[in-house]
Amino acid sequence: MNVKLANQPLSGIDADLTLEFVTPQRLEHHPHAALLAQGGFKAETEQHCALHEHRLLVCGVSDTTPETIRTASAHAIRTAKGYGYASLKLAQYGNENFAALIEGIVLGSYRFEGYRSDPKPSPLCEVIFSSETIEGTMLDTAILEPLFEQTLVIAKATNYVRDLVNQTPDDMTPQAMAIAAESLSRSHDLECTILDVNGLEAEKMFAMMNVGRASVHPPRLIHLAYKPANPKKVISLVGKGLTYDSGGLSLKPATSMVTMKMDKAGACAVIGMMKAISELKLDIEVHGFMGMVENMIGGNAYKPDDVLRAKNGKTIEVRNTDAEGRLVLADVLGYAQEKVKSDYIFDYATLTGACMVALGPYTTGVMGHNESLKRSFVEAGAEAGEYCGILPFNRHLTKLIKSDVADVCNVSSKPYGGAITAALFLDHFIDEDMKDKWVHFDIAGSAYTESAWDVHTHGGTGAGVRMTLNWLMNNCQ
Ligand code: BES
Ligand code: ZN
Ligand code: ZN
Repeated sequence: MNVKLANQPLSGIDADLTLEFVTPQRLEHHPHAALLAQGGFKAETEQHCALHEHRLLVCGVSDTTPETIRTASAHAIRTAKGYGYASLKLAQYGNENFAALIEGIVLGSYRFEGYRSDPKPSPLCEVIFSSETIEGTMLDTAILEPLFEQTLVIAKATNYVRDLVNQTPDDMTPQAMAIAAESLSRSHDLECTILDVNGLEAEKMFAMMNVGRASVHPPRLIHLAYKPANPKKVISLVGKGLTYDSGGLSLKPATSMVTMKMDKAGACAVIGMMKAISELKLDIEVHGFMGMVENMIGGNAYKPDDVLRAKNGKTIEVRNTDAEGRLVLADVLGYAQEKVKSDYIFDYATLTGACMVALGPYTTGVMGHNESLKRSFVEAGAEAGEYCGILPFNRHLTKLIKSDVADVCNVSSKPYGGAITAALFLDHFIDEDMKDKWVHFDIAGSAYTESAWDVHTHGGTGAGVRMTLNWLMNNCQ
């Protein structure tokens, strides 16, 4: 779908359909108030009324805050795609809602059709944003234009992440992700380093290697680097990239295994952020590290009772092979810190079902030692349209991952607080000087959905991308 900004009043734009948002307060002043009332339209949230004779789609909104406008435009564009129109135009609801409107349209119209034999694309292929407001004044395009370009880059990067997440484990293997990263590095002028099993062995990344041992798709470590001339900060982004998580020998029950192609969503978010960062030409040096592995069963699988030595030398008692993400991250975090001295290190991982139990399926868990840094991400997330919640560490939870045979155990001895004990496990692999510069994001709930909500349809959501890019633009520029 082609999205354009036109410095013209709405009436001057040629399009098949006009989209309009109406609050209950404004409804009685609407030029078609009587017709809308006849159709039973009360401007309730998510209520739509199409006046085809006027080529008008009217959508109810409770208010005109960015959150409401973002969700409403996502719903509206899905409705509009179901009609036979080829183009749609819409007016503005103030500068503060411009980005939300674009996000709603671009993210809300996304659909993954890669596995349909007979995809039925909607005829709607053009959306034109007028710079005129619904009240009839013109907004300054000098303000709108850069915001338009920036928001489009971020929304398209989010859709790119969704495309990667939605591909099957046999299509998006560790090697396929490496190929995707190499191709991105060529088109976006990024440096790209790939480690295969020999490379991982040379780097002593035995925790990550062992997780991938029973798979026919060998693991890959991907390092993408964006290096502008005079960067203001250096940032490392680390992603969990389990192209499939069967649980390993601690096999998942059948119903829990379904959707586990999404266990690579952290790595996909990282590659998507690298794409956006280079397109936005941010003044920050950014390194993306992705640990791509498939966790399978077999005669040569790693097993409960194994003791693994991670890259930083620490030994790990394996008591559950389904707690594999933290083993992969232990090594990738170690690699990232050894190779790059960064100002901040952030990791993204579909790490624990416990995070969903704690926060619900829509919210990213934010963990780390630096209180103000965590809070700044919750703010950046809220502004960008992502829900984030802080899960607090404490000294008692730390004791739950003590091991009687090795330096640390990969699962907790108690069944509560699992998202936090997983993060405390990762803490063992964060260098002393990086403790306050690290934030862990558990996106187990927020990265994937099987039912539409907000700007998301079935599949990957791109969790982490909008929040982090907003944080980088607010805090490092
Ligand atoms: N990939 C899963 C976590 C997950 C679960 C993500 C559901 C998305 C939806 C992770 O590797 C896992 O299996 N974690 C275990 C940890 C447990 C064995 C300590 C879990 O959450 O049950
Ligand atoms: Zn697992
Ligand atoms: Zn996993």
